[in-house]
Amino acid sequence: MKALNSLELKRLYLEFFREKGHRVIASASLVPEHDPTVLFTTAGMHPLVPYLMGQKHASGKRLADVQKCVRTDDIEFVGDPSHLTFFEMLGNWSLGDYWKKEAIEWSLEFLTSKKWLGLDKEKIHVSVFAGDADAPKDEESAEVWKSLGIPKERIYYFPKKDNWWGPAGTAGPCGPDTEMFYDTGKEKCGKDCRPGCPCGKYFEIWNDVFMQYNKTASGKYEKLAQQNVDTGMGVERTVAVLQGKQSVYEIETYAPIMGKIKEIARIQNPNASQEKSMRIVADHLRAAVFILGDERAIAPSNVDQGYVLRRLIRRAIRHGKLLGIEAEFLSELAEIAVKIHKEDYPELAKNKEFIFNELKKEETRFLNTLAQGLKKFESMAKGKKKISGGDAFLLFQSFGFPIEMTKELAQENRIEVDEKGFNGAYEVHQELSRVGAEKKFRGGLADASEETTKLHTATHLLNEALKIVLKKKGIVQRGSNITPERLRFDFNFERKLTDAELKEIENLVNAQIQKALPVKREEMKVEEAKKRGAQAMFEQKYGESVSVYSIGDFSFEICGGPHASNTKDLGKFRIVKEESSAAGIRRIKAVLE
Ligand code: ALA
Repeated sequence: MKALNSLELKRLYLEFFREKGHRVIASASLVPEHDPTVLFTTAGMHPLVPYLMGQKHASGKRLADVQKCVRTDDIEFVGDPSHLTFFEMLGNWSLGDYWKKEAIEWSLEFLTSKKWLGLDKEKIHVSVFAGDADAPKDEESAEVWKSLGIPKERIYYFPKKDNWWGPAGTAGPCGPDTEMFYDTGKEKCGKDCRPGCPCGKYFEIWNDVFMQYNKTASGKYEKLAQQNVDTGMGVERTVAVLQGKQSVYEIETYAPIMGKIKEIARIQNPNASQEKSMRIVADHLRAAVFILGDERAIAPSNVDQGYVLRRLIRRAIRHGKLLGIEAEFLSELAEIAVKIHKEDYPELAKNKEFIFNELKKEETRFLNTLAQGLKKFESMAKGKKKISGGDAFLLFQSFGFPIEMTKELAQENRIEVDEKGFNGAYEVHQELSRVGAEKKFRGGLADASEETTKLHTATHLLNEALKIVLKKKGIVQRGSNITPERLRFDFNFERKLTDAELKEIENLVNAQIQKALPVKREEMKVEEAKKRGAQAMFEQKYGESVSVYSIGDFSFEICGGPHASNTKDLGKFRIVKEESSAAGIRRIKAVLE
């Protein structure tokens, strides 16, 4: 077994899959650009959804990558040996190319061959899909495992909730998976302890998903036109296994942060609850650093990604308090996280002032209200069995308590919280409740796709129109977000746009729509695209080959798509809002009618 660190593991993985004919693509932003169903990239598959559905990828049918991911679904497990909010995911992809046999063979070869990771094959346990009314039992994968020498005693059949993978939204490409677990040698935590148990005996290190279905908005499973393989290997977990560690917090990307927390809190030998708080601080802090430092730099706020970020930061602060930390401490930890990761993620070094400043601001803001809020909570909780939705909302609105924090406090006091009541009050409160955070998780990819596709094409027209009307070549996209209802586009410009300018932009876009311009896609090397003057996203990392979309002679832009095939399908373009989104950044919201 090779005791690799994270950088070494990532390099070795990509080298292995290059040898197997894969092209390496760059990590996408943590904020999915054209997928309205999720707030964050939770897996390598998100940026690849159009290609899993059949669109051609500029780098071919075999891809490999390291994708930065944020997952909040498992947040209650954070603190155990292996669950993290932010993590790096290694992935290899077959877009309608190889299938189960090759995928499983290669997984086992990479894990166990002496040339690669050299893990002990005897300690590898696997799970496969047990089958249900939607899809059959995955005997095919089980047979491949057996043929490779994994005995049936180490092959487990689990239902959909364990062995099926699809995006977090309700619709989209999905399929059965086979998961690989490494037995760390720890005692079983009980007689039911088995792969999937979070106690830390079995580390889930890799998941091969066979994406063969599309779940429709109405919940039906239809066969996709092509059979895809989507795999995900957790870097932190695999490194912990390779280094013989008991938890991910002991590996080199975490140990210095954990060490610093101990030092600040002056704790030498943490008890179990202190250890858990330290892990929560370290995990949430690292996630916050990556969200703040993303190519699309997100700041704490009360909506969408900014609200998730705020919740992570505030929970970290409270756990800092539980550890007895009185002073501000987050930016000190953030410096360590930036230093650890800046080689692979240069965006962190670039945005480091923003990261530190925003953390400081949020910490100061929250520390001002935390003590008072805790007092208020105590008075609300006294003699009660339940915190009402209204009270939970008051804690949120007046003291900045995220709902998880109120729930956590309630749990510590053995009482309940009316979360439904809170959500009701919260939704009413949201200025943008129609496109609020909760709704994002409900929409389906399938039903939303036509509207978002058109808005995406309109976004390219707007990008070009801005440069022309504002007579400034240096205008670049600083962010884009599309929901089925509207587009949102951020760009660098120093002042408010006048009504006349907005009208002119609208007219120019509508003129292109009326011209019925064809939308065409070409593949080329990224240098060639730039040489030919293609628009590119600010700070975006691109693979070697890229897709470039042209709209008549009007627009020429590097982009993953998908797009409408002709502008005549777009309808009428209308700008509904122009405002500032950050210093030197303007934001336009527009609709198609
Ligand atoms: N998309 C799969 C996962 O995240 C590989 O587990």
